[in-house]
Amino acid sequence: MLRRCGVVLAGLAALLSIFFIGVPDARAEYGDVVINNYSDASGMRPVVFPHLFHRIRFRCKVCHADIGFKFQAGGNEINMVKIIDGQFCGACHNGEIAWSVENCNLCHSAKPGTKTQVHESTIQKLAQPAAAAKKK
Ligand code: HEC
Ligand code: HEC
Ligand code: HEC
Repeated sequence: MLRRCGVVLAGLAALLSIFFIGVPDARAEYGDVVINNYSDASGMRPVVFPHLFHRIRFRCKVCHADIGFKFQAGGNEINMVKIIDGQFCGACHNGEIAWSVENCNLCHSAKPGTKTQVHESTIQKLAQPAAAAKKK
């Protein structure tokens, strides 16, 4: 009886914590986040972060607590020095957990001029088709 009570309480606590941590907008869970605070200005394509692809592999906590990504598209001041230093995307894109930073185009894949946003579509709609990119 006591043990069952504990299980129920733990379940309740988990549920409550979801409400109290207060995820501001759940749409990002399924969409792609375009990050363009600096990319256009430095002549790189804006970054497309496929959120669903990542969140089916990792828990929210890994990125939003342990690594420290704020819950806001474009709300983290990310640059390449920090990434190479192992922060933000670089916590995983280091050639160990995931492919490393030299694959510029895999992250910098949005059409130039795409604003920072949560885009609720697949990466294909934002990225320039490979064939078209090659022709240029
Ligand atoms: C794992 C993903 C990822 C990879 C790989 C990556 N970048 Fe970035 N990069 C980002 C993110 C995220 C930002 C921040 C984007 C913004 O706010 O515009 C960024 C920003 C930048 C910026 C602007 C800020 C700064 O640091 O000057 C430049 C320039 C840049 N990247 C160049 C590159 C080049 C060149 C490569 C390949 C050698 C590369 N990036 C590979 C994710 C990546
Ligand atoms: C692999 C890392 C990662 C995981 C796992 C992850 N996120 Fe995110 N999340 C991000 C990044 C990166 C952004 C965009 C931050 C930026 O643009 O600077 C983001 C943005 C968001 C946003 C803000 C979008 C907006 O509207 O501005 C919300 C809400 C969010 N995530 C919720 C979640 C939830 C809920 C989970 C778990 C189900 C989760 N995330 C798992 C990395 C992650
Ligand atoms: C918690 C670890 C983690 C973080 C943080 C993370 N990634 Fe990833 N990412 C991965 C893994 C693992 C893969 C799959 C690698 C593979 O397939 O070899 C991946 C794959 C990707 C892909 C390819 C998706 C596809 O369709 O194949 C892109 C693009 C990408 N990441 C961009 C980013 C960007 C941009 C950031 C930072 C804003 C970031 N990632 C942060 C772990 C992470």
